[in-house]
Parts: sequence; C-alpha cells; structure tokens
Amino acid sequence: MSDTVEWTPAGVDRDVPSVARIYDYLLGGSHNFAPDRAMATRLLAVQPNVADIARGNRAFLRRAVQFMAEAGVRQFLDLGSGIPTAGNVHEIAQKIVPGSRVVYVDYEGVAVAHSQLLLAENADATIVQCDVSRPNDVLNAEETRRLIDFSQPVGLLAITIGHYLPPDCDPAGVFARYRDAIAPGSHLALTHLTDDFTSVHGDEIIETMKSTQNHVFPRTREQVLELFGDFELVEPGLVTTSGWRPDHGIAPAVDPERDGLYAGVAVKP
Ligand SMILES: C[S@@+](CC[C@H](N)C(=O)[O-])C[C@H]1O[C@@H](n2cnc3c(N)ncnc32)[C@H](O)[C@@H]1O
Repeated sequence: MSDTVEWTPAGVDRDVPSVARIYDYLLGGSHNFAPDRAMATRLLAVQPNVADIARGNRAFLRRAVQFMAEAGVRQFLDLGSGIPTAGNVHEIAQKIVPGSRVVYVDYEGVAVAHSQLLLAENADATIVQCDVSRPNDVLNAEETRRLIDFSQPVGLLAITIGHYLPPDCDPAGVFARYRDAIAPGSHLALTHLTDDFTSVHGDEIIETMKSTQNHVFPRTREQVLELFGDFELVEPGLVTTSGWRPDHGIAPAVDPERDGLYAGVAVKP
C-alpha cells in the first residue's frame, strides 16, 4: 500500500498498528503501514514462528470451508475476516459450489475498503463493517439479512477472532448469541490463541500487542471448548491447526503445540 494519505480509508489510524495489517504483512501482503511492519518485527522477536502460525491458520480456514461446503453449507458468516489474501472464503466456497453466499465482517477500515474493492462485482459476497462483539448489529445488518437465510444452515467462521474479545465483553455470551441465531445443521469453525503450550510465549505476546489497536487474550482449552456450547465437534475434535484433517499426504506438524492456535469445527444438533 502507498504511504500517501490519499490511500488511507476514512477512520483508519495508521500510526497505531492494527492486527489486520500486521497479519497482512506476516502473510506477505502489501496493505500495511510502517508502524504495522515494525510491530510485526517485534512480534517475530517474541514468537519467531508467528508467520508459520498465521499460514497454518489460513490453511485450516481453507480445509474447514471445504469441509463445510462438502457437507452442504451454502452460506457463510466470517467474523473478523481481515484484509483479503490468498484463499478467501468466497473463492473457496464458490469454487466448490457457485452461488455460495458469504458475508464478511470486520471493523478495520483497510480490511473493509479492500474487501469492498474485491467484492464489487460479486453479487453473492459482501462485507459488513461492524464490531463482532456486538452480535445483534452483525446479525441484523441489512447486508447480512440480504445474503444469509437464517432458516438454513450457516457456516459460522470465527478464525482468530475470539482472542481479540476481552473478558469484559463476555466472549462466551457473544458466541452463544451467534450460535443461537443459526439453524440446526449449521457449522462453527474457530481458531483461538492459547498459551497452554510452553512453545507459545503468551505473556510476551499479550504485552507486545498492548501497543496495538487489538489487545489479545489467549485462552485455555476449557475456555475455548466453551465457545462451541452444545455444538458437536466433528473428528478429530479440538486440536491445533495442523492436526485438523490435514490434506491427503500432508502430515501434521511434528510439534503440533507450535501451531499456537486451537482449531475445531462443530455442528449444531
Ligand atoms: C488476525 S486477523 C484474522 C483474519 C482471518 N479471520 C484469518 O484468520 O485469516 C483478525 C481480524 O479480526 C478483526 N477484528 C478484531 N477484533 C474485532 C472486532 N471486535 N470486530 C470486528 N473485527 C475484529 C481485525 O480487524 C482483523 O482483521
């Protein structure tokens, strides 16, 4: 992205790093500013495999969307969707079933602006600029209602979003509201940062991210399981990203704890 002011969408604070743009940089994207890149460098110093964690997360997202599409899901709600990058949800889903509908949700201006550009010609996918911690705003947004039929199964994606929700916004209650809104047969896929594993330097990541717009809150296995409510986890249950149904012939990471993120998919009974 150009560093000229003209390229900054309204409402974007380019001086304070944002996770949308840090993540974009870690994945090799160009929609980020100098403070985002400096913060990515600080994160790499704290957690040297952070770019691998991001890539493993994207690979899980692709496999989870494929799984849902093959299970008959035709509409997706992607919470905290980020800046478009390789393998966006609508590209994966619409390749498997043309006409699959996707609503992306993010509150960061660069992510929203680039999603709008990418989706301008796609009648079946859109972006809603909203705070995910306000489920009623997301669920009742005009664009959400235009593309999602809540009487039919939904693929709810919460991929690296839960750990940006602070305890005082009641993440378990927020997830429950989304789960309650969707029909039986709906799927929930999520990934969530944990510091259950010694290979994840949770305290240092928390401290470093305090200088950004997005503080992080790693959670334990029990706390992450709670986000699925009474949805039934499909095999292999809650694992880390590389261990969730790895592609044929591709072995999970040698040390799955280094994935840093719990990952799972569950179905609404
Ligand atoms: C690390 S990126 C993940 C992007 C994508 N879900 C993925 O996993 O590849 C996290 C995204 O969540 C967004 N985000 C964080 N908190 C949010 C909130 N409360 N409401 C909406 N978006 C949020 C950030 O702006 C960022 O784009």
